[in-house]
Amino acid sequence: MDVIRRREPLRDACDDARLEGRTVGFVPTMGSLHEGHLSLVRKARREAETVVVSIFVNPLQFGPGEDLEAYPRDPQRDLRLLEEFGADLAFLPSVEEMYPDGRPLVTVDPGPLGGVLEGASRPGHLRGVCTVVAKLLGVVGPCRAYFGEKDAQQLAVIRRMVEDLDLPASVLAGETVREPDGVAMSSRNVYLSDEEREAARALPRALAAAAALADGGEVSADVLRAEMAKHIGAEPLAELDYVAVVDDATFQEVEKVDGTVRALVAARFGSTRLIDNARLVAR
Ligand code: PAJ
Repeated sequence: MDVIRRREPLRDACDDARLEGRTVGFVPTMGSLHEGHLSLVRKARREAETVVVSIFVNPLQFGPGEDLEAYPRDPQRDLRLLEEFGADLAFLPSVEEMYPDGRPLVTVDPGPLGGVLEGASRPGHLRGVCTVVAKLLGVVGPCRAYFGEKDAQQLAVIRRMVEDLDLPASVLAGETVREPDGVAMSSRNVYLSDEEREAARALPRALAAAAALADGGEVSADVLRAEMAKHIGAEPLAELDYVAVVDDATFQEVEKVDGTVRALVAARFGSTRLIDNARLVAR
């Protein structure tokens, strides 16, 4: 595996791969890799011939007072894992390499999808995500790009960005990987105390309760929202940020569960903010 820290050599390596007729699979991450990230690497390995994984903690997507400084970083362990999982190229740029002039003057507006839920709770977050992903796709070039359903709104915004800006990538999604007790894997889980980690089970529990109601024929999104809020409200260590039942493509709230809708939850456990979501299937 080649470890690349600058944009030009990565661009060249990806161009070379394509010239040799190899398809490029790209998995952008912020590192501190867990099985959720690695499932995307595995999928890319199966579906593309040259696998590129980026590790970059993108300052642009962290708001003031968020955990940019504290965000877990362990590049040596990450590189060992990527080697083991058969990645071909690991891209670990510095902040100066990605943003040589400081904050970029031109950024990607995530549109209406970027203003709700995560966009409302974390102003500027999805703009920061879109901007860095557009830059990374600009360097990597035509590829299959892999994102997790764990961050469903991020996935939806990136899909729209790639479509609306005609970026030369196919966006592919990987299912959420969970711990045995149902809690979605996240680099931020390491922040949780034992009690908070236990309390975090309220998120998948709330989603499972909503899914069970939908499966039983409940079509009112308000009933599902109330059910999720009830489960999270019952957990004393959880501070609810939002519950939502939205159209899976537009992220607009729906009234009725029909076709493909997604239930989403966000809550704080101490200073750690966690999100989770599940697709709801109408009966
Ligand atoms: P990060 O949180 O490191 O996640 C990298 C990728 O792994 C994202 O596509 C995310 O959805 C996926 N992922 C995280 N946890 C997962 C889980 N439990 N199951 C499945 N997939 C999971 O998301 C980002 O980084 C950044 O915003 C990024 C896209 C890299 C832009 O900076």
